[in-house]
Amino acid sequence: MKKVISYSSGKGGVGKTSLVANMGVLWAKEQKKVLIVDGDWSLGKMALTLGVKPQWAINDVLEGKISLNEAVQGVTPYLSLLASPSGVVGFEELSESQRNQLYFEIDAMQEDYDLILIDHSSGVHWGVIQFAAAAHNHVIVTTAEPTSYMDAYAIMKLLSQRFKIRNFQLIVTMSQCVSETQKIIERFVDITQNHLDVCVREIGHFSFEPKLAESLRQQKPFANLFPELAFTQQLVKVCKTLERLPVEKGNGLRFYYAQNINPLATR
Ligand SMILES: Nc1ncnc2c1ncn2[C@@H]1O[C@H](COP(=O)(O)OP(=O)(O)O)[C@@H](O)[C@H]1O
Ligand SMILES: [Mg+2]
Repeated sequence: MKKVISYSSGKGGVGKTSLVANMGVLWAKEQKKVLIVDGDWSLGKMALTLGVKPQWAINDVLEGKISLNEAVQGVTPYLSLLASPSGVVGFEELSESQRNQLYFEIDAMQEDYDLILIDHSSGVHWGVIQFAAAAHNHVIVTTAEPTSYMDAYAIMKLLSQRFKIRNFQLIVTMSQCVSETQKIIERFVDITQNHLDVCVREIGHFSFEPKLAESLRQQKPFANLFPELAFTQQLVKVCKTLERLPVEKGNGLRFYYAQNINPLATR
């Protein structure tokens, strides 16, 4: 089953790119064809996290220099990356026609992959939210810090109220104390489900892992460097859970390409 999974957080620096990169690495090891789209269109760090140097990035596609197919870079035989530029101002707010172009081209590539993982930039930009809404499954990444879960709440509110997305998978990361974090997150999930018409399911809880910084320094994916550590083992479990999720009908890139309207502009 082809699946597009979107990863959003609201707040930056919560560990989203680290999770997406390593899930991609693990799925690729299982011989699933994976495309990671670095949706952080101005400050993309996915290539760095995966330890590759991209030749082309998404801006080259939108500027018409190359096709999307040409911009996609092989990381390993089963893992590919559509990189984003770093330090290109203003790329978060793509024009309507640029977004159309991207949907159309990524949609056309869906058949080539088992999984497409979209790692969004932080912040609530219209282009980001709309791109996130176009996925089949929605992963929200948060820490137990109020600044992080408040932003996670804001993203779920927008996606549910503007795009009728109802099911969210929550990943909690950088946890310093498992029992304390668990209490905070359970309360957060309760409040969210009481206030928004959504179902939030916690699918993974990751501790603070100092060796992640080491993997970045070495520019090698954590899951390759430290396959035996608890962080990697937990990632394997989360991958299995995400694989089992049904593809949500009514979502998907084609759906949004066809219905490309901007509800924010009409309210
Ligand atoms: N679970 C974790 N424990 C410790 N450090 C982490 C963890 N997850 C991420 N980091 C570190 O936090 C920084 C930001 O991570 P990143 O994945 O780029 O976050 P985001 O994509 O949410 O901005 C990086 O230096 C990374 O090594
Ligand atoms: Mg990131």
